[in-house]
Amino acid sequence: MRLLVCGGAGFIGSNFVRLRLRENGDEVVVLDKLTYAGREENFHDFAEDSGFRFVHGAIEDPQAVASALDGGGPGAGEPIEAIVNFAAETHVDRSIAEPDAFVRTHAQGTYTLLEAARERELRYLQVSTDEVYGSIEDGSFTEDSPLRPSSPYSATKTGADLLVQSYFHTYGLPATICRGSNNYGAYQYPEKLIPLMILNALHGDPLPVYGDGMQVRNWIHATDFGRAIGHVLEHGVHGEVYNAGGPDECANIEVIERIIELTGADESLIEHVTDRPGHDRRYSLSSEKVRALGWEPRVRFAEGLEQTVTWYRENEWWWKPIRSGDYRAYYERQYGRTLA
Ligand code: NAD
Ligand code: TYD
Repeated sequence: MRLLVCGGAGFIGSNFVRLRLRENGDEVVVLDKLTYAGREENFHDFAEDSGFRFVHGAIEDPQAVASALDGGGPGAGEPIEAIVNFAAETHVDRSIAEPDAFVRTHAQGTYTLLEAARERELRYLQVSTDEVYGSIEDGSFTEDSPLRPSSPYSATKTGADLLVQSYFHTYGLPATICRGSNNYGAYQYPEKLIPLMILNALHGDPLPVYGDGMQVRNWIHATDFGRAIGHVLEHGVHGEVYNAGGPDECANIEVIERIIELTGADESLIEHVTDRPGHDRRYSLSSEKVRALGWEPRVRFAEGLEQTVTWYRENEWWWKPIRSGDYRAYYERQYGRTLA
């Protein structure tokens, strides 16, 4: 296929592009604004591929979207067939501190992409999150569960999902939505739980556990989520939502304890800090619908976490510029202490 992948310079987007180039022989144009989380380093092993092209720009900018779409695919220049939208502000803590970019990217940005898809009659896939359903004490969310987002991040992602559905119902846009659970793996920006704890553990920095650490997340490896998105793109019914949850659930404190074991850090680094306001207790997705399309997760959490720790150990070139740059100032604002 010939795809426009928006937000393809981020964590999950770049893993998805790598999979599509290598496993599916797709041609891919990436449109990305390169926020703090978007990095051209994430293209290091496919930047020169003939099937790949990068356009620097924002999804809320109609001219940038047009120039990414109208140049055609990177190979023979044949027209793009589908838009896959990963572009988002993705960190809940940042959405609590400064929600404005979340509203702009998720509302105006998604609208701009939908208009471009409608005008050119393109397929459209919106990458979404389990956080649109809110928190669940027992059982798992299905695609029919009510939408009860709790943070500015999840509320604006929910708004984007509803707008996508309205374009299917009103204009017949061939759109699908794929909602993932918490992702982990290589190339994840270290503001998120797993890479933050790995890098802090490797540096002997304290490991900040929000509240009692008993919040549960349903971990999915980014390559598994990428393949689920590919399945929905190829086999999903237009107008439908598909959940893609990981095979395992784990309380935050257990994740941190496993990271301590894998890095050989000291238990005494664990530090309970003030809880996140409005913190969702548990996320859990039922993925029967996407499994019926032939997808299933391949990576169990224990194995994937070990691989992820190894990746961060071996790829200092990737994280060192982050940990010595603006991220330090973010960390001080968020945690009230300096990194080692
Ligand atoms: P990320 O923060 O690593 O990457 C986001 C990317 O979007 C970056 O490259 C950034 O530069 C780009 N971007 C941001 N605003 C943009 C704009 N206005 N125009 C163009 N590009 C812009 O995020 P991620 O973890 O890779 O998440 C990707 C998608 O997957 C998001 O839509 C997110 O909601 C969804 N998702 C993430 C998770 C998770 O655990 N990380 C789970 C489920 C769903
Ligand atoms: P995060 O990676 O921010 O993902 P999300 O909020 O989208 O689930 O956080 C995962 C869990 O880890 C969440 O319950 C909050 C918790 N957490 C901490 O306890 N300490 C931290 O420093 C961070 C970043 C997260």
